[in-house]
Amino acid sequence: MEIRVDKVFVGKAKPDMSTVAFGTYFTDHMFLMDYDPESGWHDARIVPYGPLQIYPSSTIIQYASEVFEGLKAYRTPDGEVQLFRPDENAKRMNNSAERMALPTMPVEMQIEAMKALVEVDKDWVPSGDGQSLYLRPYMFANDLDIALHPYKKVVYGIIACPVGSYFPGGLKPAPLMLEMDDVRAVRGGTGFAKCGGNYAGAMHAGKNADDKGYSQVLWIDGVERKYVEEAGGMNVMFKIDGKIVTPQLNGSVLPGITRKSAIELLKSQGWEVEERLVPVTELLEGIKSGAVEEAWMIGTAAVVCPIGEFAYDGESYIVNNGEIGETTQKLYDDLTAIQWGKAEDTFGWTVKVD
Ligand code: COI
Repeated sequence: MEIRVDKVFVGKAKPDMSTVAFGTYFTDHMFLMDYDPESGWHDARIVPYGPLQIYPSSTIIQYASEVFEGLKAYRTPDGEVQLFRPDENAKRMNNSAERMALPTMPVEMQIEAMKALVEVDKDWVPSGDGQSLYLRPYMFANDLDIALHPYKKVVYGIIACPVGSYFPGGLKPAPLMLEMDDVRAVRGGTGFAKCGGNYAGAMHAGKNADDKGYSQVLWIDGVERKYVEEAGGMNVMFKIDGKIVTPQLNGSVLPGITRKSAIELLKSQGWEVEERLVPVTELLEGIKSGAVEEAWMIGTAAVVCPIGEFAYDGESYIVNNGEIGETTQKLYDDLTAIQWGKAEDTFGWTVKVD
């Protein structure tokens, strides 16, 4: 793929990484590419970071036809830069795109685009503890009429931002609120796709949880209203009776790449990992009896974040005395060691940007 590069001469000042909030400060450049059914994907370009020109009638504005991804570029101890499982993000992007009737893009092309942007903005990849360059690939329909029809114009882009810890408090156990009214997704819907609409529909419950002092909600399945699905912006895992348990991918749960990596890593370390239905009753009763030993959220942005409390029906259920558990901490340490190139990557997950 030929990529045109329009470089800025004088870049922006880099942010103070000790205070920059997640996703607020973007690099000098961004990647863009266009699609139409006649020409396919074309006009790959890296241009200065800036606004896109979008008409009010654009499909993205009127019908929210959008999917996105999230992955990180890490600075290794020897100063090199690597991506973590970009092929998985590219595959999931295509699965999401198919669900939203957007065109797919060859996995290799997506990885080339990610690498090219990181290469141009390489000096933006921070090297401090827990810091990385978060990449946000996205795709949206951009037709100019408001009629409903298969999309004719689509844009693919990547933006990048240097990030530290997702939660300002770092690895501090978070309080979650079980959401019993709003539903995030149902099977047959778009729950498994990483589309902006899922997050827009979740905002009402998220704001309610935030207003009440909770970090995020815990979504319950939309059909039977009985089973745990995922947290506000991440998957969830539990240590129950010495085993690792996580909600199965049933079509309404996001197939997280960090979730998948944790399962593979934990299994390789000899843990029994169960992907299955997790009834709310099992979780709450298990916390009371002590069977639920640890709970954590898991996703690209935050990696692993312990859960210290679940609120349900006016009652508070405290996990592990509200402290981070040993397994949660070890999983965080082991995963991040591979991501930052501090431990050998025996899985072949990391991809160097040269
Ligand atoms: C990620 O973990 O990359 C996510 O997509 C979460 C995000 C909505 C902040």
